[in-house]
Amino acid sequence: MNVVIDINMTKPKTAGAIAFLKHKDKKMLIGGDWVDAASGKRIDSIDPATGQVIGTIPAGAKADVDRAVKAARESFDKGVWREKTPDERARVLWKIADLIEANIDELAELETLDQGKPLFVGRWAEIPGAAGQFRYFAGMVSKIQGETINTSINYQPPGKKIFAYTMKEPIGVVGAITPWNSPLVLEAMKIAPCLAAGCSMILKPAEDTSLTAIRLGELIMEAGVPAGVFNVVTGFGPDAGQALAEHHDVDKIAFTGSTPTGRKILNAAGGNLKKVALELGGKSPSIVLADADMDLAIPGAANAVFFNTGQVCVAGTRLYVEKKVFDKVVAGVADIAKGMKMGHGLDPATQIGPIVNKRQADKIKSYIDGGKSDGAEIVCGGEQLGTTGTFISPTVIAKTNHNMKVVQEEIFGPVVVAMPIDSLDDVPRLANDSRYGLAASVWTQDLSKATRFANAIKAGTVWVNCHLMFDPALPIGGYKESGWSRDSGMQAVENYLETKTVCMVV
Ligand code: NAI
Ligand code: MG
Repeated sequence: MNVVIDINMTKPKTAGAIAFLKHKDKKMLIGGDWVDAASGKRIDSIDPATGQVIGTIPAGAKADVDRAVKAARESFDKGVWREKTPDERARVLWKIADLIEANIDELAELETLDQGKPLFVGRWAEIPGAAGQFRYFAGMVSKIQGETINTSINYQPPGKKIFAYTMKEPIGVVGAITPWNSPLVLEAMKIAPCLAAGCSMILKPAEDTSLTAIRLGELIMEAGVPAGVFNVVTGFGPDAGQALAEHHDVDKIAFTGSTPTGRKILNAAGGNLKKVALELGGKSPSIVLADADMDLAIPGAANAVFFNTGQVCVAGTRLYVEKKVFDKVVAGVADIAKGMKMGHGLDPATQIGPIVNKRQADKIKSYIDGGKSDGAEIVCGGEQLGTTGTFISPTVIAKTNHNMKVVQEEIFGPVVVAMPIDSLDDVPRLANDSRYGLAASVWTQDLSKATRFANAIKAGTVWVNCHLMFDPALPIGGYKESGWSRDSGMQAVENYLETKTVCMVV
């Protein structure tokens, strides 16, 4: 079996995407100007389905990061953004959302071409989600406020009183470092609250998927964000990313990506003790109980792991099923997997696209092979396909034990390991037997079981009878090695604020 790619389905159709790709050598955004890297070096942007170069991006590094941080710092110190009224900032954020929506078909095509994802994933889930972030945080700008505080201080001069309050101030210059799996929405989850707070930002998008970040930079400028407030520095992680994380004039790093890279960022941030927010890896359980509505649970468990070709940090990659329905559920998920259409993401029929690059596809394949040699059974899938070697067929693995790498490590591809539940008392222990704690889902019609397990599972999000339900109002982030702090939700804006206490004797 191989993946046949219809050549007519590999080209964008929107005038916007065609025009954007016509100028092949893209520039990055520093201080309001579109510039090359100081070194002049470039990185190819590749369509992972065909291996074709669709454009090039500047290979930014330390010199470029220095320049962008300087521009961001100047814009912050001058107050060109943070001193605008909340109403003015909110209007600009709302406008960014409008512009994303006005260009949504173009953005979806560009994301698919650069990342590989099936078009519907970007068009109907992620990019509307990106616009939603800007709308949600547009509404937050006017709700950023401090408190007046009553104290018990009793040593003020006689006849005087204490008056104390807090102020919320933007944290300053923020570096955002983001991954390649769901570029636009993950970027928006950082940019929107950061701009709402009044900060200036340097975005370092993933080197594999920087085209839409560049296009988003154009839209953000068009919406009226002043020069220097939002900058995009493209480049490799160990060059541009590391320089940003180390920079002494950056006040905060907001990172989404792998746990090992999160650790490197933490070390790099130690120099000036900049604040760090981390949204890291996961190995999230989907737990299907015998009383579940199987018409929901079986497709739901399949979607939990195969959506976006399995490249989702909260994907349901450990499938635990109560023993008496184990065979039925695993066969059901495997049937869905076997029926999924693989192909170029721009083909509207495609459900499984390529993995973002060959290196990542090789890594997924080596996990599958490792599972096999450890004695696990490949129920379906497990093949690496296509002339580019970037396609991995949706894979269901059974007969595993808890020590196997396929059960413990984040694979970040369309691969699920299925394991039986002997007794419901085991559920919390099984679900929590991971160094990660990002998300989980429980499939049951029994309210008390749902509540019991939602309470017992150590994860930042627990879904019941669903998985992958996202909203800008719902906080998302991890327990344990899945990270620090939360994106989305009201408190996400706090990631970009400092609290100042003012205490007066009056
Ligand atoms: P990564 O975590 O290394 O990349 C994420 C971002 O960090 C990219 O923008 C990258 O350029 C940057 N980066 C890399 N090294 C850096 C450094 N030393 N300093 C600062 N920034 C740096 O992810 P990668 O290597 O692309 O994928 C490796 C694994 O990470 C995947 O196999 C997958 O398991 C996991 N992953 C998890 C994601 C999640 O959301 N949980 C997202 C992407 C990858
Ligand atoms: Mg690419």
